[in-house]
Amino acid sequence: MSPSETIALETKVLSANPAGIDAAVATLSRGGLVAFPTETVYGLGADATHAGAIARLYAAKGRPAFNPLIAHVADLAAARRIGRFDATAEKLAAAFWPGPLTLVLPQTAGCAVADLATAGLDTVAIRVPAHPTAQALLAAFGGPVVAPSANISGHVSPTMAIHVNADLAGRIDLILDGGPVHVGVESTIVGCFAQPTLLRPGGVPTEAIEAMLGERLARPLAEAANDDDQPVAPGMLASHYAPRAAVRLDARSVAPGEALLAFGPIDLPGTDRAAAVLNLSPAGDPAEAATHLFGYLRALDASGARAIAVMPIPHEGLGEAINDRLRRAAAPR
Ligand code: TXA
Ligand code: MG
Repeated sequence: MSPSETIALETKVLSANPAGIDAAVATLSRGGLVAFPTETVYGLGADATHAGAIARLYAAKGRPAFNPLIAHVADLAAARRIGRFDATAEKLAAAFWPGPLTLVLPQTAGCAVADLATAGLDTVAIRVPAHPTAQALLAAFGGPVVAPSANISGHVSPTMAIHVNADLAGRIDLILDGGPVHVGVESTIVGCFAQPTLLRPGGVPTEAIEAMLGERLARPLAEAANDDDQPVAPGMLASHYAPRAAVRLDARSVAPGEALLAFGPIDLPGTDRAAAVLNLSPAGDPAEAATHLFGYLRALDASGARAIAVMPIPHEGLGEAINDRLRRAAAPR
């Protein structure tokens, strides 16, 4: 389906209450596209078994179809129907589901997720989100729902319904508004291969996963980050999460015409003439910073500043995922 066919839709926005959930289930059931909150970011959902719906989803986002989608399910029992769990996967699911963790597993023989959603791989990415709206929607729908972040491909991920509307109004059927999300960066993705592998840092700190497993995750990410031909999670292209304005990392001062994305106490020369200033966490808390990251990038972009200077952010806890997203936002386009 061409993008021009997808922009004729009238996008409804409904509160994430029982009537909204009913409407969302009906929309998914007829192959429609529904944006809904998860605790990490808003997702754009489609019936994972419906190839036509998935084709419309790729078109609505402008997403390359070689980039596979995460299948969301309500619980571990539903996850077992589509993915084969090894001992590591069992431990990770028991410790972190429901929550901001995605597991890449070999598909089961009867896996109902359409090949188009897995980009023809023999693995499937599975997540059990904790957000009450996501839980209610998945339980009521009954089958797997594929959902990438609900933004135009390459844009900043949405943490509020208005962000979804700004990117996708006219291209999707329904947005369930469940308020701002609690985590703010996407799920951590672990590949349960012979050696458990960190495919994307995210909402569960890598340290917490390694402490629970009692082993270090393999990290092909460092080598793959600069090689867009062979990304490990195919979606982890070097340039991503990109605002219009240029992004300058580890700023020690603010140049004329720049906006400042701050972290902790602000002591940078030039701050007084910044085009705009937003502080991710005045107290210097990475978890608080994660909840603001994508929204503040959007807001500073909208300020019209020519560039966004970003103060250094420590790598501990959610800082790893924040620095990963900022590096991609700053990458050459
Ligand atoms: O928090 C999240 O994970 C959000 C919410 C909506 O659940 N979803 C999300 O989806 O971030 P998306 O499509 O923006 O990112 C999914 C990533 C992509 O980088 C994709 O390449 C990777 O997961 N992925 C999906 N299936 C995979 C597979 N079988 N093997 C390796 N990577 C996979
Ligand atoms: Mg995304």
